[in-house]
Parts: sequence; structure tokens; C-alpha cells
Amino acid sequence: MDIRTIDWKNNKIRIIDQTKLPLKLLYINIDHLEDLWQAIKIMQVRGAPALGAAAGLGMYLGIKDYICSDWGKFSRKLNSVAKYLASSRPTARNLFWGIERILAVASAHKNQPITKIKQAILADAKLIMQEDAFSCRKIGAYGARLFKNNNKVLTICNAGILATIDYGTALGVVYTAVSQGKKVEVFCCETRPLLQGARLTTWELNKQGIDVTLIADNTAAKLMQENQVDMVITGADRIAANGDTANKIGSFNLAVLAKYHNIPFYVAAPKSTFDLAIRDKSGIKIELRKDQEVSSILFKKEIAPKNAKVLNPAFDVIPHQLISGIITDQGVIQMPYLQNIRKILGKNKCG
Ligand code: MRU
Repeated sequence: MDIRTIDWKNNKIRIIDQTKLPLKLLYINIDHLEDLWQAIKIMQVRGAPALGAAAGLGMYLGIKDYICSDWGKFSRKLNSVAKYLASSRPTARNLFWGIERILAVASAHKNQPITKIKQAILADAKLIMQEDAFSCRKIGAYGARLFKNNNKVLTICNAGILATIDYGTALGVVYTAVSQGKKVEVFCCETRPLLQGARLTTWELNKQGIDVTLIADNTAAKLMQENQVDMVITGADRIAANGDTANKIGSFNLAVLAKYHNIPFYVAAPKSTFDLAIRDKSGIKIELRKDQEVSSILFKKEIAPKNAKVLNPAFDVIPHQLISGIITDQGVIQMPYLQNIRKILGKNKCG
């Protein structure tokens, strides 16, 4: 793909500023940890796998100029960077997975000079990006087998290039199916309040030449009722051991609608999104975001009275019973999830 969401360039983190899309494709360079924290918070970089990569690079950014010669001091500094980065957004498992992975790498090198530990951290942060690119293509290959020619697919938010390094999970499946010569039509929910569907998914699918139609979120039921949707595919922010899946707010609505209309509902995610330490949805922390995201249109136009009470959870949880399959880089996992997730992913390191 010709777009790279996050990268390490000239000793800085380079990201696409996603708050500027679709009006401007603007790259920004980040060389302070506080700026990365802010970029994650305001979602200049977003999407679970991209946050995993940001975590890896952010850990390096936080210690690269720290001067000390003993492991104890270095480790305390690294842990404080980890804690700080982890406080940026709570729901996507990949962010924490990336942080924990770098802590483990540092610890495995603790008997080496600090410069070597720093080198190992940067190398692993780069490896996280390489692995993501590879794993998205594997997700694409497994998922594309579910497609027939002329399938119409509904998606929400953005689980594409812009949510990963360069390919996408749910949209990666679409890219692969299309590359195999299948005709695919995508319906994309606008995804209130921050409009990742309208701004990002529509933009990237257009750019890749995929047939995409933008719909208001509340149009999904009508489309399904009219047999216009063959399958729903979403990404995931955190998947519990029993398959309960946190994803962008509105995903649960789509899953209920899909069940009612007998339409398959798939989730696509790499193994870094699974949290096997959490048994079910009760352990998933849902991020609450600013009122103004809901009471305005992208902070530009107020659409509610000034004193309106607002509730703005950024994610909801799709109960596993509503999920037809989870498309991973190790294959498509089906029910019973508690057993099959462990069987397919348990033997690999996945949180
Ligand atoms: O709040 P966002 O835009 O970070 O939410 C993103 C999603 O919900 C995506 O579907 C999820 O992270 C998977 S991205 C491959």
C-alpha cells in the first residue's frame, strides 16, 4: 500500500495526523513523549494496531536521551514511561501489549550496557511494525476466503490502513478479496461522534479504488432489511478470552441487527488485540471521552444546548454469541470461543 500510518524516520516518530483527514494528508514528526501522548489522546494516531506500534516507538522515545549507566535507574525510568503512555487511552489492548513487550525486551537485556538495551528496544519497536504489516496480510488472506463475488459488506469506524501500519484488518480483508479479483461493495457507517467512517474509511477506500458508499449510522437497519448487506466486518480494540469484543461504539448495535437479519458478523484482529487475562466483557475498560465530541460536530459547530448532559463512551462490547467468526492472523476462530481462542492463539504470546 502507498500509505504508511506510523513510522520511525530521522530519529522521530512520523505519523499521519488523522484529525486533518480527509481534507489534508499531513505527516507530523514527534520527538517528545508528551507530544506522542497527546497525539494518541486526541487521536491523531488511532486504531488498535497503530497504537501498539505507537507504544513500541513511544517507549524508545521516552528513554533514548536518558543518560545513566545502571540497570536499576534505567528500569525505573522505563517503567515511568510505560505508566505514562498507558494512561493515554484505556481500551485498545495493543497499546498495553506494545508497552509490555518492550518492558520484556529491556529486561531480557538487563545485563548489557544501557546503549545496547536502547538499541534492542528500538529494534523491537521496528519489529512490531513489520509484524503488524505481515499479520494484516495474513488476516486479509484468511478473511478473503469468506467472500463470494459481488458481496456487499458493512463496516464501522476505520479498521484499515489508517488503523494499522499499512494494510488494515477488516479493510485488509476487503483489499485481499479485491486483489483476488472478487467484486466487493462496501457500506461504511459514518461513525459518530468522531466520524472515522466518513473521514477515514471512505477516504482510504476511495484512494484504493474500492467501491464504497457512506451511510449515516442509523441507516444500517434499513439496508439489512432490504437485503443489501451480505456480511458485517469490524475491527476490534480488545478481545476477552471468551470472544467478547470491544470495538467502536455502535458495533454492538450492528451485531444485534445482523443477528436479527441472519447476516454473518465477523471481527478481524491480530493476536496482539486478544487479552486472555480477561475472561469476558466485565473486565474490559471502556474509554469515556469529552462531552464536546457529541455536543458538537468535530468541535466546530455546537449542535446541543450549552448545558446539555452528555454521555460519550468511545467503545461498546459485542457479546461473543453475536460473532460468527474472529478473523485472525492464525485463521478464522469460531465458537466455542473460550476453547478455540486458547487452542489457536494460546500457544502464542498474546497478552
Ligand atoms: O477510537 P478509535 O478510532 O481508535 O477506534 C478504533 C476502532 O474501534 C477500530 O475498529 C479498532 O481499533 C480496530 S482497528 C484495526
